Amino acid sequence: MRPGSEDYGAIRGGAIGVRDGTIQWVGREADLAGPPDTLAREIKELPGSWVTPGLIDCHTHLVFGGNRSEEFERRVAGQGTYLSQAHDGDGILSTVRATRAATADTLTESGLRRTRQLIREGVTTVEIKSGYGLDRDTELRTLDTASQIGVGLPVDVRKTYLGAHSLPPEFLDDRKGYLDFVTLEMIPELAKTGRAHAVDAFCETVAFSANECRRVLLAARDAGLDAHLHADQLTDGGGAALAAEMGALSADHLEYTTESGVRALAEGGCAAVLLPGAYHFLSAAQRPPIEHFRTHGVPMALATDMNPGSSPVLSLLVALGLGVTLFGLSPVEGLEGVTRHAALALGLQGGRGQIEVGMRADLAIWDVDHPRELAYWMGGNPLRDRVFGGVSDQDTADGGACR
Ligand code: NIG
Ligand code: FE
Repeated sequence: MRPGSEDYGAIRGGAIGVRDGTIQWVGREADLAGPPDTLAREIKELPGSWVTPGLIDCHTHLVFGGNRSEEFERRVAGQGTYLSQAHDGDGILSTVRATRAATADTLTESGLRRTRQLIREGVTTVEIKSGYGLDRDTELRTLDTASQIGVGLPVDVRKTYLGAHSLPPEFLDDRKGYLDFVTLEMIPELAKTGRAHAVDAFCETVAFSANECRRVLLAARDAGLDAHLHADQLTDGGGAALAAEMGALSADHLEYTTESGVRALAEGGCAAVLLPGAYHFLSAAQRPPIEHFRTHGVPMALATDMNPGSSPVLSLLVALGLGVTLFGLSPVEGLEGVTRHAALALGLQGGRGQIEVGMRADLAIWDVDHPRELAYWMGGNPLRDRVFGGVSDQDTADGGACR
């Protein structure tokens, strides 16, 4: 996945040297300084397999209580739309009720189950957002559950506070009061305690305006946390320009972003995170402006957006496939989207997302004849093994907890 390389940056007949969880050498086996058994204590031969960087799911909301299959069933029967259901007390607030009612154990158990699904398909880094608690206790419980997932499974978890996801019922008549709570209490506390790496906000008619989101992202900046923004998903709310203005690492969704928004992303060095699972699941009408991203050189990442309302998608390979078939990415752009560009969207580009000397030895090993097949098969799982920080799942007693 080296930038600018031909044919996926493929090295045929390749070898990778790993020490202390880090890639020390990468190139053609024929160029090694000597026979492998004179250079390494342990050797893994992978004849006929392809090795890619471990996959990175850079946008999920996978810790939540309950699910929204009833709302889904009503919607596909023609009763309401995603937006009208959000106004009728379904939508995000129904998951807020279920998440507030869930114990830490229940959240951990279901969060682990969902994360295992991702790991089984080669994911080694996953971002998890809060935002279904909204009150202090439930938001902390969600972020701590995300930490527990990273302790319990061989995967690196990046935690994002999405307090500005929806206005909680107890603040229905006091938007400013809620934003005071998010910006003056929660964000400083989370930064101080290291409970979140980043802050996100939902910039949308049913959630928060661009001015309200600016306040949230300013507080994140003041607290030294990274920023992301749910931008222009259902309407053009100027989200892309705001993300760029605030120096966010990524702007996410972007179906309704205009060319001037794309230009702002390019100038701000902000990655575009595309979420074809949500587009598919909501039968959305408008695709994100892929051609403009290409023209202006905005890096495109792809993620599952795993959440109960708009994207109950438990497979990053499915998101990759949909990014190609629905959004028109090429298979190599899709693979960049779940590796190098996903690392960029999380601010981790120096350390992962490529098979490069000095990067973490996070690898996915596939039984395919060519990496384009990762965007081609849908519903199968060609993963043969996964390496997390230099340790192979096959060498772990419980199969890396992912078999
Ligand atoms: O990324 N857009 C905002 N948040 C989620 C969906 C939330 C929900 O419907 O539960 C998303 O699509
Ligand atoms: Fe999302």
